[in-house]
Amino acid sequence: KRDERFAQITNEHVDYFKQLLGKDSAVIDGVTGAAAEDEIEPFNLDWMRKYKGHCKLVLKPGSTEEVSKILKYCNENMLAVVPQGGNTGLVGGSVPVFDEIVVSTSRMNQIRFFDEVTGVLVADAGVVLEVADQFLAEKGYIFPLDLGAKGSCHIGGNVSTNAGGLRLLRYGSLHGTVLGVEAVLPDGTILNDLSRLRKNNTGYDLKQLFIGAEGTIGMITAVSVHCPQRSKAVNVAFLGVESYDKLLQAFREAKTQLGEILSAFELMDSQSQNIYHKVKGNTRPLDGEHPFYCLIETSGSNSEHDSAKLESFLEDLMTKEIVSDGVMAQDETQFKSLWSQREGITETLGHWGGVYKYDVSIPIKEMYQLVEDTRKRLEDAGLKDGTEESPVVDVVGYGHMGDCNLHLNIAVRRYDKKVEEALEPFVYEWISKRNGSISAEHGLGIAKKKYIGYSRNETTVGLMKQIKNLYDPVSAYSFLLPH
Ligand code: FAD
Ligand code: MLT
Ligand code: ZN
Repeated sequence: KRDERFAQITNEHVDYFKQLLGKDSAVIDGVTGAAAEDEIEPFNLDWMRKYKGHCKLVLKPGSTEEVSKILKYCNENMLAVVPQGGNTGLVGGSVPVFDEIVVSTSRMNQIRFFDEVTGVLVADAGVVLEVADQFLAEKGYIFPLDLGAKGSCHIGGNVSTNAGGLRLLRYGSLHGTVLGVEAVLPDGTILNDLSRLRKNNTGYDLKQLFIGAEGTIGMITAVSVHCPQRSKAVNVAFLGVESYDKLLQAFREAKTQLGEILSAFELMDSQSQNIYHKVKGNTRPLDGEHPFYCLIETSGSNSEHDSAKLESFLEDLMTKEIVSDGVMAQDETQFKSLWSQREGITETLGHWGGVYKYDVSIPIKEMYQLVEDTRKRLEDAGLKDGTEESPVVDVVGYGHMGDCNLHLNIAVRRYDKKVEEALEPFVYEWISKRNGSISAEHGLGIAKKKYIGYSRNETTVGLMKQIKNLYDPVSAYSFLLPH
């Protein structure tokens, strides 16, 4: 199947791109058969191995000008494209829906500028997040975003999804930290809005539209980001908690007692930790099992002072019986291993074959109720009975508690229509009733596109369509909003 509004790629098109990009390695050509299927497969298949496109041509431009020429040519020839960064997105937006050309940012990976006084970084869209952060670490700065896929995702992809991640609580959203964007519009026009200024109230702030647009209105080629000072002292604690109510109390206390040094407050339920241990087989940080766990990180400037603060916070929570058990990392190895208990969940959930993912924002008091209600619904429907034949392995909850962002995940042995029907629209209706968001940080992609109405009203969606049409009137571009 393909979208017949768009043209089929011909050998003539391929010749144009080969000439334009010069290098052999910049064009993966499955059209003329120059590249084998397995060379193209990684660009067609998403991280979860759930969404698969049928692209036959991958282009890797090395400059903004090349991106501009590619998009102009595609626009004029009605060739559909999809921008791709590290291909770690979790909603199927980074891979072709049909046979779109993949335009990858992997060769656009230069750091263009850094200001040691203000912390402003300007870099190509294809710089890997971890590479940017390591560059900044040497200068005493930190990238204001961190997430489990840091070793593969590109900063252009991060900005395009408005990724939230593990420290949004401390450093805020990319809508605040991204100072400028350079982007190529679908007709090839280069929009240079690479401002390095924190304050710039001169008309509409157009770059904001690109942050979280998921490639629907143009392709980001570079970003300018305000990076905070890297903290000298970073501590982490891992706590076991008996109930969700107590977890809420622990969060309230963390904000009160740890105040300005609190940099992460992450939630994990026992089910997510059980799966992590089953798959990884490593030693648990705490003795016994607890219904809930939280990971608390502090980032400050005085190691002794911060450790003492965190220790007395833990003592206080134990005395008040808000937490049942806890451990603080004593060295870098323990620090990493406690964080991997949280960051590693995503990977381990797919172990049995598949996972249904819901990334939601709900008022914090009701947040975990969604996991319990979903679990009960699947049990009542006979889809989760604890046996090896049952399609559902488990229903787990984890996420960025500090941002009221829950990840409800259903690990399954196989994708199953009955499970899907039990989950949808149930989950979306549940969220909508509480005025929550059906996509807190991952975006709509192909997975959530048709459910936008559960979180946005008609007027808002109507305006979004007008914006899309303004930037991309011929729609020779991956089209994610309902049309
Ligand atoms: P891709 O996956 O390649 O693309 C994502 C979307 O952006 C697609 O729609 C694509 O078309 C578009 N796009 C990519 N590059 C550009 C560009 N230059 N211009 C225009 N559009 C573009 N997300 C969170 O928010 N928080 C997390 O904590 C988090 N943790 C994760 C952990 C793991 C293990 C994994 C696999 C993913 C996680 N994610 C998280 C998902 C997150 O969306 C991505 O990891 C990341 O932000 C996407 O970057 P990418 O370069 O891989 O983009
Ligand atoms: C996370 O917080 O771990 C990511 O958003 C990925 C996921 O939802 O699994
Ligand atoms: Zn997340």
